[in-house]
Amino acid sequence: MNAALKPLDPEGRHALFTGARTANTFADTPVSDAELSEIWELAKWAPTSANTQPLRVLFVRPGEGRDRLVNHMNDGNRAKTESAPAVAVLAMDTRFHEHIPALLPYKPELKDVFAADETKRDETGTFNAILQAGYFILAIRAVGLAAGPMAGFDAAGLDAEFFPDGRFRSILVVNIGHPGENPWFARLPRLHHDDALHWV
Ligand SMILES: Cc1cc2nc3c(=O)[nH]c(=O)nc-3n(C[C@H](O)[C@H](O)[C@H](O)COP(=O)(O)O)c2cc1C
Repeated sequence: MNAALKPLDPEGRHALFTGARTANTFADTPVSDAELSEIWELAKWAPTSANTQPLRVLFVRPGEGRDRLVNHMNDGNRAKTESAPAVAVLAMDTRFHEHIPALLPYKPELKDVFAADETKRDETGTFNAILQAGYFILAIRAVGLAAGPMAGFDAAGLDAEFFPDGRFRSILVVNIGHPGENPWFARLPRLHHDDALHWV
């Protein structure tokens, strides 16, 4: 039997893409642990190469943990992180291959391939963790929350602070919450499809 796929309706497309914006301020409205878990429960289904799933998420709440995080954000990002009710530190598990026998049961020996080749492991882990970070942003939108992704932080400092054993390597910090006062910057233009698409 063919799988029955159907297009997402205009409301869904608006929520994920055409109407979704990057939030720069956040309301006091709390975000529950259940909502944060739901983000992961959606994002985890999106594909990765050989089902490697190297993304790890550290959810940071207001208080001592967030104060430690803010210290490692670039100056222009600090106020944003301070206003968010939740922040996700997205990281790559440098030892993601240890899960391969469970995640790819028909080819468990791939674990040993990655164990023996650190360069290949880093490239695959980084590529797929960044891919999963994109899925994660869309999943935040899918649960009705706004995301504020930020690459502007001191990754070495953040990693030493939160991942001192060196296993996880941060790739992106994402503010999460409901939009606050004047949350959006002006919408920036997107490439015209003639500049981005090529056909053969
Ligand atoms: C990977 C990534 C890194 C980003 N880093 C920062 C950042 O460090 N600081 C910031 O203010 N915005 C940052 N942004 C936000 C982008 O500038 C914003 O998402 C983009 O301009 C689109 O805005 P829009 O969703 O409102 O159209 C980042 C976005 C992404 C996806």
